[in-house]
Amino acid sequence: MHLLLTGGAGFIGHHLLAALYAKYPGAQITCIDNFDPFYDVAVKENNIQPFLSKPGFRLLRIDLGQTSPTQLTTLIPEKVDLILHLAAKAGVRPSIQNPEAYQQANVGGTKNLLDFAVATGVRQFIFASSSSVYGINDHYPWKEDEELIPISPYASTKLAGEQLGKQYRERHGMRFIALRFFTVYGPGQRPDLAIHKFTRAILNDQPLTVYGNGNTSRDYTYVGDIVQGILGAMKYSDSNFEIINLGNHYSISLIDLIRAIEKITGKSALLQYGPDQPGDVPKTYADISKAKRLLGYDPQTKLETGLTAFVDWFTSNR
Ligand SMILES: NC(=O)c1ccc[n+]([C@@H]2O[C@H](COP(=O)([O-])OP(=O)(O)OC[C@H]3O[C@@H](n4cnc5c(N)ncnc54)[C@H](O)[C@@H]3O)[C@@H](O)[C@H]2O)c1
Repeated sequence: MHLLLTGGAGFIGHHLLAALYAKYPGAQITCIDNFDPFYDVAVKENNIQPFLSKPGFRLLRIDLGQTSPTQLTTLIPEKVDLILHLAAKAGVRPSIQNPEAYQQANVGGTKNLLDFAVATGVRQFIFASSSSVYGINDHYPWKEDEELIPISPYASTKLAGEQLGKQYRERHGMRFIALRFFTVYGPGQRPDLAIHKFTRAILNDQPLTVYGNGNTSRDYTYVGDIVQGILGAMKYSDSNFEIINLGNHYSISLIDLIRAIEKITGKSALLQYGPDQPGDVPKTYADISKAKRLLGYDPQTKLETGLTAFVDWFTSNR
């Protein structure tokens, strides 16, 4: 089996790589990542390092937004069985500063990869979408067929990726599955995300900024559970197009999240308050019945357990 994973040096990608090698020890895996400097590139080098010596592993350090389908075909001459497309410029707030870069990497990159998939006859394409596509819809918990009201350029690029996938499925018959991840956390979490930022501030006795009144809430999903959902989607073959939430079905307010981190670290947060941030939605909350039904998805990690794993990782890696 030959798998193509994009974004494998990133947070979720390197956890997925480990799980793929555990589940498919003989697989050939081609990984694409441009080591985008959105956060410290040394973290990504560290993430990918254990896989560089694996038999059948190949790393292509290329920018998907700037690599044509023809170039991809030359770089990857062997037949690919399945694509796991996780590469993207992530982060809501920076996308407001530089929407063009998000468009090029996330929409242009996805289109290049879809064209490569069609040209080379890849049968299954799994796309990392995001809960941010629901935006300010307030019908909670969100089911996949809810109205989508994205409010950031990042969210729009994820929605565009889903829609491109739908068009390619219709025109070319390839199976396309979009997985809408809900705020993913766990060891190695991106440094720009709340749990990482809050833990760092609390353990370093630095002030921590809460934007808005602390009542915004998020459905935090442990990275190990997300990986189980992705592995489930790799085996899914009952239809040729699906959009599926991968969340935890548990939404917690920012202030309660901070209290939970305080409890685990045994330290108090120094809170300061700032204005609401543009692009941030008030609440995310996933209905995960479709993922349970179609993928056998069953997130097992309680927030307290996952936060403890993150804090342990943070203290031994800082
Ligand atoms: N972490 C979350 O909470 C979350 C939530 C919803 C969706 N997602 C999606 O899941 C995927 C993985 O997220 P993550 O948190 O691991 O982010 P990450 O930034 O750690 O990983 C993304 C990887 O993609 C690479 N990349 C970016 N642009 C690229 C390009 N043009 N060409 C090649 N590689 C490129 C980056 O270098 C990085 O290693 C992303 O598509 C993200 O949008 C993440």
